[in-house]
Amino acid sequence: MAFDTIIRGGTVATATSTFSCDVGIAAGKITALGPDLGQAAEIVDASDMLVLPGGIDSHVHIAQPSAPGIVMADDFASGTMAAAFGGNTMVLPFALQQKGESLRQVVKDYHAKAKDQCYIDVSFHLIIADVTDGLLGQELPALVKDGYTSFKVFMTYEGLALSDIEMLKVMSVARETGALVMVHAENYDAIRFLTDRLEQAGKTAPKYHATSRPIPVEREATHRAISLAELIDVPIMIVHVSNGEAMEEIVRARARGLKIYGETCPQYLLLTEQDLDGLNMEGAKYVCSPPPRDKASQATCWDGLQQGIFSLFSSDHCPFRYDDPQGKLLPKGKTSFRWVPNGIPGVETRLPILFSEGVGKGRITLNEFVALTATNHAETYGLYPVKGTIAVGSDADIAIWDPKRQVTISQSLMHGGCDYTPYEGLEVTGWPVSTMLRGKFVVRDGKLVGKAGDGAYVARGKSPLAVPRGA
Ligand code: URP
Ligand code: ZN
Ligand code: ZN
Repeated sequence: MAFDTIIRGGTVATATSTFSCDVGIAAGKITALGPDLGQAAEIVDASDMLVLPGGIDSHVHIAQPSAPGIVMADDFASGTMAAAFGGNTMVLPFALQQKGESLRQVVKDYHAKAKDQCYIDVSFHLIIADVTDGLLGQELPALVKDGYTSFKVFMTYEGLALSDIEMLKVMSVARETGALVMVHAENYDAIRFLTDRLEQAGKTAPKYHATSRPIPVEREATHRAISLAELIDVPIMIVHVSNGEAMEEIVRARARGLKIYGETCPQYLLLTEQDLDGLNMEGAKYVCSPPPRDKASQATCWDGLQQGIFSLFSSDHCPFRYDDPQGKLLPKGKTSFRWVPNGIPGVETRLPILFSEGVGKGRITLNEFVALTATNHAETYGLYPVKGTIAVGSDADIAIWDPKRQVTISQSLMHGGCDYTPYEGLEVTGWPVSTMLRGKFVVRDGKLVGKAGDGAYVARGKSPLAVPRGA
Protein backbone atom coordinates (compact mmCIF):
# COMPACT_ATOMS: atom_id res chain seq x y z
CA MET A 1 0.00 0.00 0.00
CA ALA A 2 1.22 3.48 -0.85
CA PHE A 3 0.28 4.94 2.54
CA ASP A 4 0.62 3.91 6.16
CA THR A 5 -2.22 6.26 7.09
CA ILE A 6 -4.79 8.40 5.35
CA ILE A 7 -6.59 11.14 7.26
CA ARG A 8 -9.90 11.22 5.44
CA GLY A 9 -12.69 13.71 5.04
CA GLY A 10 -11.34 16.61 7.11
CA THR A 11 -10.94 20.28 6.32
CA VAL A 12 -7.24 20.98 5.96
CA ALA A 13 -5.92 24.46 6.69
CA THR A 14 -2.47 25.90 6.15
CA ALA A 15 -1.18 29.43 6.66
CA THR A 16 -2.45 30.37 3.22
CA SER A 17 -5.41 28.18 2.28
CA THR A 18 -8.24 25.95 3.45
CA PHE A 19 -9.40 22.91 1.46
CA SER A 20 -11.12 19.56 1.83
CA CYS A 21 -8.92 16.60 1.02
CA ASP A 22 -7.35 13.37 2.23
CA VAL A 23 -3.87 13.51 3.74
CA GLY A 24 -1.70 10.55 2.77
CA ILE A 25 1.15 9.62 5.11
CA ALA A 26 4.03 7.22 4.57
CA ALA A 27 7.15 6.74 6.70
CA GLY A 28 6.27 9.74 8.87
CA LYS A 29 5.96 12.19 5.97
CA ILE A 30 3.01 13.68 4.14
CA THR A 31 3.27 12.08 0.72
CA ALA A 32 0.01 13.07 -0.94
CA LEU A 33 -2.89 15.51 -0.63
CA GLY A 34 -5.92 14.78 -2.77
CA PRO A 35 -9.67 14.28 -2.91
CA ASP A 36 -9.64 10.48 -2.62
CA LEU A 37 -6.35 8.78 -1.97
CA GLY A 38 -7.75 5.23 -1.88
CA GLN A 39 -6.68 2.75 0.76
CA ALA A 40 -4.05 2.65 3.49
CA ALA A 41 -3.09 0.44 6.39
CA GLU A 42 -5.09 2.82 8.57
CA ILE A 43 -7.85 5.25 7.66
CA VAL A 44 -8.49 8.02 10.18
CA ASP A 45 -11.95 9.51 9.86
CA ALA A 46 -11.74 13.30 10.21
CA SER A 47 -15.27 14.17 9.06
CA ASP A 48 -16.42 17.47 10.60
CA MET A 49 -12.91 17.99 11.92
CA LEU A 50 -10.16 20.46 11.10
CA VAL A 51 -6.81 19.02 10.09
CA LEU A 52 -4.12 21.55 11.03
CA PRO A 53 -0.33 21.57 11.24
CA GLY A 54 0.71 20.57 14.75
CA GLY A 55 1.34 23.63 16.86
CA ILE A 56 4.92 24.75 17.36
CA ASP A 57 5.45 26.63 20.60
CA SER A 58 8.76 28.40 20.14
CA HIS A 59 8.91 29.93 23.61
CA VAL A 60 8.72 27.48 26.51
CA HIS A 61 10.81 26.92 29.61
CA ILE A 62 11.23 23.31 30.71
CA ALA A 63 13.43 21.90 33.49
CA GLN A 64 15.21 25.22 33.70
CA PRO A 65 17.10 26.06 36.89
CA SER A 66 15.97 29.14 38.77
CA ALA A 67 17.11 30.57 42.10
CA PRO A 68 18.07 28.19 44.96
CA GLY A 69 15.06 26.44 46.46
CA ILE A 70 12.89 26.90 43.36
CA VAL A 71 11.94 23.99 41.12
CA MET A 72 10.24 24.31 37.76
CA ALA A 73 7.01 22.32 37.57
CA ASP A 74 7.73 20.62 34.26
CA ASP A 75 10.45 18.27 33.17
CA PHE A 76 10.70 17.20 29.54
CA ALA A 77 8.23 14.36 30.00
CA SER A 78 5.44 16.36 31.63
CA GLY A 79 6.05 19.53 29.59
CA THR A 80 6.00 17.80 26.21
CA MET A 81 3.04 15.60 27.20
CA ALA A 82 1.03 18.69 28.15
CA ALA A 83 2.08 20.31 24.88
CA ALA A 84 0.87 17.27 22.91
CA PHE A 85 -2.54 17.40 24.61
CA GLY A 86 -2.66 21.06 23.63
CA GLY A 87 -2.29 20.23 19.93
CA ASN A 88 1.46 20.82 19.63
CA THR A 89 3.98 18.63 17.86
CA MET A 90 7.09 20.64 18.66
CA VAL A 91 8.36 22.95 21.38
CA LEU A 92 11.48 25.08 21.54
CA PRO A 93 12.69 25.33 25.15
CA PHE A 94 15.81 27.16 26.25
CA ALA A 95 19.20 25.83 27.25
CA LEU A 96 20.10 28.35 29.94
CA GLN A 97 23.70 29.26 30.65
CA GLN A 98 24.54 30.51 34.12
CA LYS A 99 27.58 32.62 34.91
CA GLY A 100 30.80 30.63 34.70
CA GLU A 101 29.28 27.78 32.70
CA SER A 102 30.43 26.61 29.30
CA LEU A 103 27.52 26.92 26.89
CA ARG A 104 28.58 23.72 25.12
CA GLN A 105 28.36 21.88 28.45
CA VAL A 106 24.96 23.48 29.16
CA VAL A 107 23.66 22.19 25.83
CA LYS A 108 24.95 18.70 26.66
CA ASP A 109 23.19 18.85 30.04
CA TYR A 110 19.86 19.80 28.43
CA HIS A 111 20.19 16.96 25.95
CA ALA A 112 20.72 14.61 28.88
CA LYS A 113 17.61 15.98 30.61
CA ALA A 114 15.51 15.58 27.45
CA LYS A 115 16.86 12.20 26.33
CA ASP A 116 14.11 9.57 26.02
CA GLN A 117 11.70 11.89 27.85
CA CYS A 118 9.94 13.79 25.09
CA TYR A 119 6.50 13.01 23.66
CA ILE A 120 6.93 15.52 20.84
CA ASP A 121 9.90 17.02 19.01
CA VAL A 122 12.16 19.60 20.64
CA SER A 123 14.94 21.97 19.69
CA PHE A 124 16.85 24.39 21.90
CA HIS A 125 17.39 28.14 21.90
CA LEU A 126 20.49 29.26 23.81
CA ILE A 127 20.21 31.72 26.72
CA ILE A 128 23.44 33.66 27.02
CA ALA A 129 24.35 34.91 30.49
CA ASP A 130 28.17 35.03 30.46
CA VAL A 131 29.59 36.97 27.54
CA THR A 132 33.23 35.88 27.46
CA ASP A 133 35.71 35.99 24.58
CA GLY A 134 35.62 32.19 24.40
CA LEU A 135 31.84 32.18 24.12
CA LEU A 136 31.83 34.84 21.42
CA GLY A 137 34.80 33.54 19.46
CA GLN A 138 34.40 29.78 19.68
CA GLU A 139 31.34 28.39 21.42
CA LEU A 140 28.60 30.43 19.75
CA PRO A 141 29.87 30.08 16.16
CA ALA A 142 30.36 26.32 16.66
CA LEU A 143 26.92 25.88 18.23
CA VAL A 144 25.23 27.80 15.40
CA LYS A 145 26.96 25.47 12.92
CA ASP A 146 25.56 22.54 14.90
CA GLY A 147 21.96 23.76 14.55
CA TYR A 148 21.44 25.97 17.63
CA THR A 149 20.53 28.96 15.49
CA SER A 150 18.82 31.29 17.96
CA PHE A 151 19.96 33.01 21.16
CA LYS A 152 17.91 34.69 23.88
CA VAL A 153 19.37 37.64 25.75
CA PHE A 154 17.90 39.26 28.85
CA MET A 155 17.97 42.96 29.68
CA THR A 156 16.79 42.20 33.22
CA TYR A 157 17.00 39.55 35.99
CA GLU A 158 19.83 39.09 38.46
CA GLY A 159 22.55 36.95 36.94
CA LEU A 160 21.08 37.11 33.44
CA ALA A 161 20.88 40.80 32.48
CA LEU A 162 23.42 41.77 29.84
CA SER A 163 24.89 45.26 29.62
CA ASP A 164 24.54 47.18 26.38
CA ILE A 165 28.08 46.34 25.30
CA GLU A 166 27.42 42.65 25.96
CA MET A 167 24.23 42.86 23.91
CA LEU A 168 26.18 44.47 21.08
CA LYS A 169 28.81 41.74 21.19
CA VAL A 170 26.21 38.97 21.06
CA MET A 171 24.32 40.71 18.26
CA SER A 172 27.55 41.06 16.34
CA VAL A 173 28.18 37.29 16.54
CA ALA A 174 24.57 36.70 15.48
CA ARG A 175 25.14 38.88 12.43
CA GLU A 176 28.33 37.02 11.53
CA THR A 177 26.87 33.56 12.06
CA GLY A 178 23.30 34.10 10.82
CA ALA A 179 21.65 33.37 14.17
CA LEU A 180 18.47 35.09 15.34
CA VAL A 181 18.56 37.03 18.63
CA MET A 182 15.49 36.96 20.87
CA VAL A 183 15.32 39.83 23.35
CA HIS A 184 13.64 39.99 26.76
CA ALA A 185 13.19 43.75 26.90
CA GLU A 186 12.81 45.25 30.38
CA ASN A 187 15.05 47.86 32.02
CA TYR A 188 16.85 46.13 34.91
CA ASP A 189 17.94 49.27 36.76
CA ALA A 190 14.46 50.78 36.61
CA ILE A 191 12.97 47.58 38.02
CA ARG A 192 15.55 47.46 40.81
CA PHE A 193 14.92 51.10 41.70
CA LEU A 194 11.15 50.67 41.80
CA THR A 195 11.39 47.37 43.69
CA ASP A 196 13.55 48.96 46.40
CA ARG A 197 11.14 51.89 46.73
CA LEU A 198 8.09 49.64 46.90
CA GLU A 199 9.68 47.44 49.55
CA GLN A 200 10.70 50.50 51.59
CA ALA A 201 7.04 51.56 51.52
CA GLY A 202 5.96 48.10 52.71
CA LYS A 203 4.36 47.31 49.35
CA THR A 204 5.44 43.72 49.05
CA ALA A 205 2.32 41.78 47.95
CA PRO A 206 2.38 39.98 44.57
CA LYS A 207 0.38 42.77 42.91
CA TYR A 208 3.36 45.12 43.30
CA HIS A 209 5.27 42.92 40.88
CA ALA A 210 3.28 44.71 38.15
CA THR A 211 3.89 48.12 39.77
CA SER A 212 7.63 47.45 39.74
CA ARG A 213 7.70 46.84 35.97
CA PRO A 214 5.34 49.40 34.40
CA ILE A 215 5.02 49.93 30.66
CA PRO A 216 7.88 52.49 30.32
CA VAL A 217 10.28 49.84 31.69
CA GLU A 218 9.41 47.60 28.76
CA ARG A 219 9.06 50.40 26.21
CA GLU A 220 12.51 51.86 26.96
CA ALA A 221 14.24 48.51 26.79
CA THR A 222 12.45 47.65 23.55
CA HIS A 223 13.60 50.95 22.06
CA ARG A 224 17.17 50.36 23.26
CA ALA A 225 17.31 46.80 21.97
CA ILE A 226 16.09 47.98 18.58
CA SER A 227 18.65 50.79 18.51
CA LEU A 228 21.48 48.39 19.35
CA ALA A 229 20.30 46.01 16.64
CA GLU A 230 20.20 48.91 14.20
CA LEU A 231 23.83 49.74 15.01
CA ILE A 232 24.87 46.17 14.23
CA ASP A 233 22.41 45.77 11.32
CA VAL A 234 21.02 42.55 12.71
CA PRO A 235 17.38 41.39 12.81
CA ILE A 236 15.96 40.67 16.27
CA MET A 237 12.81 39.16 17.75
CA ILE A 238 11.28 41.06 20.68
CA VAL A 239 9.64 38.32 22.71
CA HIS A 240 6.57 38.46 24.98
CA VAL A 241 5.43 41.99 24.09
CA SER A 242 2.71 43.02 26.55
CA ASN A 243 1.44 46.42 25.44
CA GLY A 244 0.95 49.03 22.75
CA GLU A 245 3.84 51.31 23.66
CA ALA A 246 6.42 48.55 23.23
CA MET A 247 4.60 47.46 20.08
CA GLU A 248 4.81 51.02 18.72
CA GLU A 249 8.60 50.82 18.98
CA ILE A 250 8.50 47.79 16.68
CA VAL A 251 6.13 49.55 14.29
CA ARG A 252 8.37 52.63 14.13
CA ALA A 253 11.49 50.54 13.57
CA ARG A 254 9.84 48.68 10.73
CA ALA A 255 8.73 51.93 9.17
CA ARG A 256 12.44 52.80 9.05
CA GLY A 257 13.08 49.53 7.21
CA LEU A 258 14.56 47.59 10.13
CA LYS A 259 13.96 43.85 10.48
CA ILE A 260 12.39 43.80 13.92
CA TYR A 261 9.99 40.99 14.72
CA GLY A 262 7.53 40.59 17.57
CA GLU A 263 5.94 37.87 19.68
CA THR A 264 3.01 38.08 22.08
CA CYS A 265 1.42 35.51 24.38
CA PRO A 266 -2.01 34.48 25.78
CA GLN A 267 -1.43 36.25 29.10
CA TYR A 268 -1.35 39.62 27.32
CA LEU A 269 -4.68 38.95 25.61
CA LEU A 270 -6.60 37.55 28.58
CA LEU A 271 -5.09 38.63 31.88
CA THR A 272 -4.67 42.05 33.46
CA GLU A 273 -2.70 43.52 36.34
CA GLN A 274 -5.86 43.06 38.47
CA ASP A 275 -5.28 39.31 38.39
CA LEU A 276 -2.18 39.81 40.53
CA ASP A 277 -4.36 41.34 43.24
CA GLY A 278 -5.74 38.08 44.68
CA LEU A 279 -6.38 37.31 48.33
CA ASN A 280 -3.30 36.41 50.35
CA MET A 281 -0.74 35.02 47.87
CA GLU A 282 -3.23 34.05 45.12
CA GLY A 283 -1.88 36.86 42.95
CA ALA A 284 1.43 34.98 42.75
CA LYS A 285 -0.23 32.65 40.26
CA TYR A 286 -0.11 35.48 37.72
CA VAL A 287 3.39 36.81 38.40
CA CYS A 288 5.25 36.80 35.11
CA SER A 289 7.44 39.26 33.26
CA PRO A 290 6.49 41.47 31.59
CA PRO A 291 3.34 41.50 33.72
CA PRO A 292 -0.16 41.46 32.24
CA ARG A 293 -1.36 45.06 31.74
CA ASP A 294 -4.90 46.39 31.16
CA LYS A 295 -7.84 46.01 28.77
CA ALA A 296 -6.45 48.67 26.41
CA SER A 297 -3.16 46.77 26.17
CA GLN A 298 -5.06 43.56 25.45
CA ALA A 299 -6.88 45.28 22.59
CA THR A 300 -3.61 46.60 21.18
CA CYS A 301 -2.02 43.15 21.34
CA TRP A 302 -4.97 41.83 19.33
CA ASP A 303 -4.36 44.62 16.80
CA GLY A 304 -0.72 43.55 16.62
CA LEU A 305 -1.71 39.98 15.84
CA GLN A 306 -4.24 41.09 13.24
CA GLN A 307 -1.83 43.46 11.51
CA GLY A 308 1.12 41.07 11.46
CA ILE A 309 3.22 43.17 13.85
CA PHE A 310 3.41 40.06 15.98
CA SER A 311 4.28 37.11 13.78
CA LEU A 312 4.50 34.68 16.69
CA PHE A 313 1.96 33.71 19.32
CA SER A 314 3.82 31.64 21.93
CA SER A 315 2.98 30.58 25.45
CA ASP A 316 6.14 31.61 27.36
CA HIS A 317 5.22 28.50 29.38
CA CYS A 318 7.27 28.82 32.56
CA PRO A 319 5.44 26.76 35.19
CA PHE A 320 5.91 26.84 38.94
CA ARG A 321 3.50 25.00 41.19
CA TYR A 322 1.35 27.31 43.32
CA ASP A 323 0.83 25.31 46.50
CA ASP A 324 4.47 24.46 46.90
CA PRO A 325 7.31 25.98 48.95
CA GLN A 326 9.57 25.33 45.92
CA GLY A 327 7.14 27.19 43.67
CA LYS A 328 4.97 30.27 43.97
CA LEU A 329 4.67 29.88 47.75
CA LEU A 330 8.42 29.98 48.28
CA PRO A 331 8.73 31.27 51.89
CA LYS A 332 10.85 34.26 50.81
CA GLY A 333 8.18 35.20 48.25
CA LYS A 334 5.79 35.93 51.11
CA THR A 335 8.18 38.64 52.31
CA SER A 336 8.27 40.38 48.92
CA PHE A 337 7.09 39.97 45.31
CA ARG A 338 10.80 40.31 44.44
CA TRP A 339 11.29 36.64 45.30
CA VAL A 340 8.17 35.12 43.74
CA PRO A 341 9.23 32.88 40.83
CA ASN A 342 8.40 34.59 37.54
CA GLY A 343 6.38 32.67 35.01
CA ILE A 344 3.06 30.96 34.38
CA PRO A 345 1.98 27.73 32.69
CA GLY A 346 0.37 27.88 29.24
CA VAL A 347 1.71 25.33 26.76
CA GLU A 348 -1.49 23.25 26.86
CA THR A 349 -3.94 26.17 26.62
CA ARG A 350 -2.20 28.43 24.05
CA LEU A 351 -3.88 26.94 20.99
CA PRO A 352 -7.47 26.52 22.27
CA ILE A 353 -7.36 30.07 23.65
CA LEU A 354 -6.27 31.65 20.35
CA PHE A 355 -8.61 29.42 18.36
CA SER A 356 -11.64 30.31 20.47
CA GLU A 357 -10.91 33.97 21.21
CA GLY A 358 -9.35 34.62 17.80
CA VAL A 359 -10.91 32.45 15.10
CA GLY A 360 -14.15 31.78 16.98
CA LYS A 361 -14.76 35.45 17.71
CA GLY A 362 -13.83 36.58 14.21
CA ARG A 363 -10.67 38.45 15.21
CA ILE A 364 -8.35 36.36 13.02
CA THR A 365 -8.88 33.85 10.22
CA LEU A 366 -8.18 30.16 10.51
CA ASN A 367 -5.19 30.62 8.20
CA GLU A 368 -3.81 33.40 10.40
CA PHE A 369 -4.25 31.09 13.37
CA VAL A 370 -2.13 28.44 11.64
CA ALA A 371 0.51 31.01 10.73
CA LEU A 372 0.67 32.49 14.25
CA THR A 373 0.85 29.15 16.03
CA ALA A 374 2.83 26.89 13.68
CA THR A 375 4.05 28.06 10.28
CA ASN A 376 5.65 31.33 11.36
CA HIS A 377 7.46 29.56 14.21
CA ALA A 378 8.92 27.06 11.74
CA GLU A 379 9.96 29.83 9.34
CA THR A 380 11.37 32.06 12.06
CA TYR A 381 13.50 29.37 13.65
CA GLY A 382 14.83 27.48 10.64
CA LEU A 383 12.44 24.51 10.57
CA TYR A 384 10.30 25.26 7.52
CA PRO A 385 9.06 23.43 5.43
CA VAL A 386 9.90 20.20 7.24
CA LYS A 387 7.81 21.50 10.13
CA GLY A 388 4.92 23.93 10.41
CA THR A 389 2.75 23.10 7.42
CA ILE A 390 0.67 20.45 5.71
CA ALA A 391 2.40 19.89 2.39
CA VAL A 392 3.84 16.99 0.45
CA GLY A 393 7.32 16.33 1.82
CA SER A 394 6.69 17.84 5.25
CA ASP A 395 6.74 15.81 8.46
CA ALA A 396 3.27 14.42 9.22
CA ASP A 397 2.95 16.60 12.34
CA ILE A 398 -0.78 17.13 12.52
CA ALA A 399 -3.43 18.17 15.01
CA ILE A 400 -7.03 17.12 14.46
CA TRP A 401 -9.44 19.66 15.91
CA ASP A 402 -13.10 19.50 16.78
CA PRO A 403 -14.00 23.12 16.01
CA LYS A 404 -17.31 22.86 17.85
CA ARG A 405 -16.24 21.21 21.06
CA GLN A 406 -17.01 23.40 24.07
CA VAL A 407 -14.63 23.11 26.97
CA THR A 408 -14.34 24.97 30.25
CA ILE A 409 -10.63 25.20 30.94
CA SER A 410 -9.81 23.73 34.30
CA GLN A 411 -6.75 22.37 36.05
CA SER A 412 -8.46 18.96 36.19
CA LEU A 413 -8.09 18.77 32.39
CA MET A 414 -4.40 19.67 32.31
CA HIS A 415 -1.57 17.17 31.88
CA GLY A 416 1.57 19.07 32.93
CA GLY A 417 3.38 19.24 36.25
CA CYS A 418 1.80 22.49 37.43
CA ASP A 419 -1.07 22.53 39.94
CA TYR A 420 -3.07 25.43 38.50
CA THR A 421 -3.99 27.11 35.25
CA PRO A 422 -4.27 30.90 35.06
CA TYR A 423 -7.25 30.38 32.74
CA GLU A 424 -9.43 28.38 35.17
CA GLY A 425 -13.08 28.72 34.18
CA LEU A 426 -12.47 30.17 30.71
CA GLU A 427 -14.98 28.76 28.25
CA VAL A 428 -13.58 27.95 24.84
CA THR A 429 -15.06 26.53 21.67
CA GLY A 430 -12.72 24.35 19.60
CA TRP A 431 -10.35 21.75 20.98
CA PRO A 432 -7.47 19.63 19.61
CA VAL A 433 -8.71 16.05 20.01
CA SER A 434 -5.79 14.18 18.45
CA THR A 435 -2.14 14.97 17.87
CA MET A 436 0.05 13.06 15.43
CA LEU A 437 3.84 13.29 15.41
CA ARG A 438 5.64 12.16 12.24
CA GLY A 439 2.66 10.00 11.31
CA LYS A 440 2.11 8.37 14.74
CA PHE A 441 -0.58 9.45 17.18
CA VAL A 442 0.70 10.84 20.46
CA VAL A 443 -2.79 11.77 21.64
CA ARG A 444 -5.80 10.06 20.07
CA ASP A 445 -9.38 11.11 20.84
CA GLY A 446 -8.19 12.74 24.04
CA LYS A 447 -6.15 9.74 25.26
CA LEU A 448 -2.38 9.45 25.49
CA VAL A 449 -1.14 6.77 23.09
CA GLY A 450 2.43 7.96 22.54
CA LYS A 451 5.32 7.37 24.88
CA ALA A 452 8.23 9.29 26.26
CA GLY A 453 11.02 9.03 23.73
CA ASP A 454 8.76 9.31 20.67
CA GLY A 455 9.78 12.95 20.41
CA ALA A 456 13.17 13.67 18.88
CA TYR A 457 15.68 16.49 19.06
CA VAL A 458 15.69 18.50 15.83
CA ALA A 459 18.78 20.47 14.73
CA ARG A 460 17.68 23.64 12.97
CA GLY A 461 18.77 25.50 9.88
CA LYS A 462 19.37 29.22 9.88
CA SER A 463 16.40 31.53 9.95
CA PRO A 464 15.68 33.30 6.66
CA LEU A 465 14.46 36.15 8.84
CA ALA A 466 17.92 36.59 10.39
CA VAL A 467 19.53 37.83 7.17
CA PRO A 468 20.76 41.43 7.75
CA ARG A 469 19.53 44.28 5.59
CA GLY A 470 23.06 44.85 4.32
CA ALA A 471 23.13 48.38 5.68
O1 URP B 1 7.94 35.54 33.68
C1 URP B 1 8.43 34.95 32.75
N1 URP B 1 8.16 35.32 31.51
N2 URP B 1 9.27 33.96 32.96
C2 URP B 1 9.90 33.25 31.97
C3 URP B 1 11.23 33.79 31.68
C4 URP B 1 11.14 34.78 30.59
O2 URP B 1 11.53 35.89 30.80
O3 URP B 1 10.73 34.46 29.49
ZN1 ZN C 1 11.72 36.54 28.80
ZN1 ZN D 1 10.17 33.09 28.51
